Amino acid sequence: MSTTTEAQTTGIDRMADPNWWRQASVYQIYPRSFADSNGDGLGDIQGITAKVPYLKTLGIDAVWLSPFYPSALADGGYDVDDYRNVDPKLGTLADFDEMAEALHRAGIKLIADIVPNHSSDRHEWFKEALASPKGSPARDRYIFRDGLGENGELPPSDWDSVFGGPAWERITEPDGTPGQWYMHIFAKEQPDFNWDNQEVRDDFLKTLRFWSDRGVDGFRIDVAHALTKNLEGTLPTKADLEAKALGTDGFVDGSHPYWDRDEVHEIYVEWRKVFNEYTPPRTAVAEAWVHADRRARYASPEGLGQAFNFDLLQADFDASQFRKIITKNLVEAAASGASSTWVFSNHDVVRHATRYGLPATEVAVEGEIMAGQAGKKWLLAGGRKEDVDVELGLRRARAASLLMFALPGSAYLYQGEELGLQEVGSEIPDSERQDPAFFRNKGVDIGRDGCRVPLPWTADGTSFGFGDGGSHLPQPAWFSRYAVQEQDGAEGSTLELYRTALRLRTDLQSGEELEWIPNSNPEVLHFARPNGWQSVTNFGTEPVDLPEGTVVVSSSGLQDGKLPGATTAWLFG
Ligand code: NOJ
Repeated sequence: MSTTTEAQTTGIDRMADPNWWRQASVYQIYPRSFADSNGDGLGDIQGITAKVPYLKTLGIDAVWLSPFYPSALADGGYDVDDYRNVDPKLGTLADFDEMAEALHRAGIKLIADIVPNHSSDRHEWFKEALASPKGSPARDRYIFRDGLGENGELPPSDWDSVFGGPAWERITEPDGTPGQWYMHIFAKEQPDFNWDNQEVRDDFLKTLRFWSDRGVDGFRIDVAHALTKNLEGTLPTKADLEAKALGTDGFVDGSHPYWDRDEVHEIYVEWRKVFNEYTPPRTAVAEAWVHADRRARYASPEGLGQAFNFDLLQADFDASQFRKIITKNLVEAAASGASSTWVFSNHDVVRHATRYGLPATEVAVEGEIMAGQAGKKWLLAGGRKEDVDVELGLRRARAASLLMFALPGSAYLYQGEELGLQEVGSEIPDSERQDPAFFRNKGVDIGRDGCRVPLPWTADGTSFGFGDGGSHLPQPAWFSRYAVQEQDGAEGSTLELYRTALRLRTDLQSGEELEWIPNSNPEVLHFARPNGWQSVTNFGTEPVDLPEGTVVVSSSGLQDGKLPGATTAWLFG
């Protein structure tokens, strides 16, 4: 494993440290659902600025901001109209600058989400493409093809979009006749860019510089593995592609027409040069759902530098699965020169406090719909509330999170998990749902709105303190129990557990080594970090003896000096 960073041994300013990201705690903000400063029911940039003191006391190193760009919100902002602006519904560029400054003053870095695979259908370029003739330079920035069939009435291939339904949409030509088809891996409001087009490449370099110049410290790259495509000749059918996928692990040879092609890395080599124009260099993390053997290239120092590993997120609460995943990922990260990433929750999946409370058979629910991407089941949001053992889910989530904070590498947290917040399930009426996955998969998938409901800041009052107005997704009455106000300073609350753990994590981190300590109980995971820091997790149900040392924090109370089931404790010395 790699060694202690210079900054950690010499105590140089963490903000200036080029390695700040290696063991950072990164908090994801989904801006529309974080805090609403103007009472319009949508969270906004000024709302975030007002909560910087909260973020500071939480003890995180960086904020990752999901898209805040002008957008019709066909896919929660991942449908971008203009890459170099702020959505007027969320604020202005001046608000953004003020937020960045406030975060930096608090010692918190800022990571922006970049969405390079597709724009929205309201982007100037797409409008121009629709108004321009077939074969024009404007059409070449996207992926337009003639249809099959006698009159081009059939899509160029039978591929499905990730959100369900076809991956092609037919347009009406400027003269009013039915025309070409454009490709959209996601919703039809998200046309895919043509990354063979130089203007597209240049424009993204401009965007990276634009935000880097405004003080953005790093980037999260949306669907980083989809940009380059091979759509020459007759396109393979869905069945051809499925036959070639290896089990559930997708393609391993880069030959899929649009997922994880080798050429995509040429783009990131160019991006890296831009990141390195800055001091400290801008960082990047790839969202790439690829075969595990192909992840390292995204994380290489010549490329994006880091890649999300969703393995723990997809695992059960199970000691042997955790151990295998942790070991493998640390080895892989060390081999690529990156540090590993860990994540249990984000805006796309069922919150882990709910996942871990679902009956075992229902854990891998809701959605085959990422099949075709890496051939994997994706845990889309929407756990059925009635089936959830809320107390067990929360207890396990706290244990899992405390274990994650003891691991070397970056820990990515999703807003609300520090409150132990549960997924909102069937309480969201169909008429108020927003996720395109729900609309394109009627009756199959309730979508991801359940993890995107605005946060409860106060136990009562309008929208639980989210803002003075309503809330763009309905908050259930039980949100009150999870409010920041209820947990702030309350002994044993999840918020206080996170605060303690994140503070200790910063204090205790000194290198990136992890040593497993054998335990005769297969349900116990015990490891040591440099300087005598140890973490021990009991995945079982019966209390177990604790190793020697002083317990500095535990995810649930000890039982007669023993470590109860579904509990993690950190020991020192
Ligand atoms: C991954 C994002 O996390 C998800 O929310 C979005 O729907 C897709 N990419 C498409 O941009």
